[in-house]
Amino acid sequence: MSDKFLFAQAKLFGPSSSSDMAERRPTLEERARVLCIASGKGGTGKSFVSAFLSSQLAKEGKKVLLLDADFGLSDAHLYLGIRPKNDISLLLKDDLHANNSVIEPVFPQLDYLYGGSGLSQLAQLTSIQWSRLLKSLFHYEQLYSHIVIDLAAGIGSQVLPYLLSSPEVFLVTNADSLALLDAYAVLKVLIQKQYEGVVYLVINRSMAQRGEKAAAALNRAAEKMQAPFKICYLGSISESMGLPEALKHNRVFLEMYPYDPAAIDLRKILKKWLEENNNEFLFKTEMSYFMKVKQRGGWA
Ligand SMILES: Nc1ncnc2c1ncn2[C@@H]1O[C@H](COP(=O)(O)OP(=O)(O)OP(=O)(O)O)[C@@H](O)[C@H]1O
Ligand SMILES: [Mg+2]
Repeated sequence: MSDKFLFAQAKLFGPSSSSDMAERRPTLEERARVLCIASGKGGTGKSFVSAFLSSQLAKEGKKVLLLDADFGLSDAHLYLGIRPKNDISLLLKDDLHANNSVIEPVFPQLDYLYGGSGLSQLAQLTSIQWSRLLKSLFHYEQLYSHIVIDLAAGIGSQVLPYLLSSPEVFLVTNADSLALLDAYAVLKVLIQKQYEGVVYLVINRSMAQRGEKAAAALNRAAEKMQAPFKICYLGSISESMGLPEALKHNRVFLEMYPYDPAAIDLRKILKKWLEENNNEFLFKTEMSYFMKVKQRGGWA
């Protein structure tokens, strides 16, 4: 990773004068590496990819939190085979950083934070509620080595602060023209907002050749717009016959079909991502990720 990138990160995540930062600042070793999973169009496979990434990292010995940040419409737990008992609205009631009852253990190294389903108040939080929520999330940053954030689709005002603050964004798209147009729109907004992390492209529900073509088209478009950030194509994920079956029977896809073509592709994608970025410290920041989100969202 270049000095320019490190410098850009230092600029992007530099110290804040906010009173929140008066709390003891965790060292880089103590801070989680944050990955956001995003898409332009809905239904491209973000939750599927998020669940896979977090499970696999946990199986490799990392301490992982999957944050389902599609607040009010969360469903990543369906891919993990669990039924969450609590949801993130608990964090709005108290300062819960000492109370972990909102965290759902999936298996020993993996926890899940459920964003709730059918809870309209979660889709329309006030500035004060956002602020409270993000302050609580800030404390989780010190409890995990990795936080994977499954975002809502699009570039709405509740999504963008998470995206822009994340040193790494997985942009999950399908290869059809509508999904690609929406992925292009995400890249365009990241360019306009001078995003300075890394964008990883993942083309879901696609054969390898079509995925490569789609990724090349997005890359070309980003080059034309002089994207100031690195874009890296991680690969495509095949259409899976097993995934709908696993979901239908409320079973964990990877346990039921470990050799499904989509599972094999996902493992290749993870391998490529790990090879590209083996130095975790380059993606950790001096400033808390969630405090940055709070500032960017204007939820002071
Ligand atoms: N590779 C695949 N093969 C077959 N089905 C898939 C594949 N990827 C995703 N799906 C299916 O597509 C649907 C959408 O997937 P998913 O929920 O992961 O998308 P999403 O991007 O999180 O959607 P949303 O924008 O609504 O949050 C689900 O029914 C899922 O099972
Ligand atoms: Mg989803």
